[in-house]
Amino acid sequence: MGYEVLDVKPVTRRIGAEVFGIDLGKPLSNRQTAELREALARHQVLFFRDQEMDHDAHKSFGRLFGELAIHSAIPGIEGHPEIVAIHADADSKFVAGENWHSDLTCDPEPPLGSILYMPVVPDSGGDTVFASMYEAYDSLSDRMKVYLEGLEAVHDANPVYQKLFPDLDRKYNRSTHPVIRTHPVTGKKLVFVNPSYTTHIVGLPDDESEAILKFLYVHCMNPNYQVRFRWRPNSVAFWDNRCTWHQAIWDYFPDTRSGFRVTVAGDKPF
Ligand code: SIN
Repeated sequence: MGYEVLDVKPVTRRIGAEVFGIDLGKPLSNRQTAELREALARHQVLFFRDQEMDHDAHKSFGRLFGELAIHSAIPGIEGHPEIVAIHADADSKFVAGENWHSDLTCDPEPPLGSILYMPVVPDSGGDTVFASMYEAYDSLSDRMKVYLEGLEAVHDANPVYQKLFPDLDRKYNRSTHPVIRTHPVTGKKLVFVNPSYTTHIVGLPDDESEAILKFLYVHCMNPNYQVRFRWRPNSVAFWDNRCTWHQAIWDYFPDTRSGFRVTVAGDKPF
């Protein structure tokens, strides 16, 4: 499908595109939505500038792509359980997403994608970096692809959130997913482990699992598979969580960076 109503400009050949000619604060046509789906499938993360979205518009935009998911670890904002605040300022002790990750791979059905709207950004810094797990897979050796095929890994949120919120006595999600996943829309294979949630590969000795994961993480962090997004006030990033990693760079302390994230529900990885 070609673009008729959107102007989509790739930021790199491999991942990321800026989308022009759309107002996310208004209801979108079927054609606009179809072209956005197409662009997301091609570029994995889409960037929009100068958007005005209230919470309802943000949720309506997300619902065009599926049901909204409620974050399994962090409570939503008042009156909008589907929206989590992404906020950091001079009082922050940590920020969300500081380590490379895909969102909530600890869930049995990890999100399809997330839509982050950022009204307040620091004058400098605070970028988000995204990495293509298609590229990471495609550039593995054929031998390594054969080795990884059929393996499963455990993704556990407990080590992540128990460290961040030690005073909360609660259990978080833990799930097992294929190490190499097939994207349900594009049919392409990709690496589906990440340094935040994946604890080990099932059925391997601990030292082998650790060595393979370490190899994969270094491999996946290759800057050639990345795009780095420089936020401006009221920018939006919409990433396909099934085939990307992302990392929020906290290089702006003590300045304030503040926005809202809506998450679209996904399905069971295969
Ligand atoms: C996140 O992981 O959703 C946060 C990303 C960001 O703040 O840039």
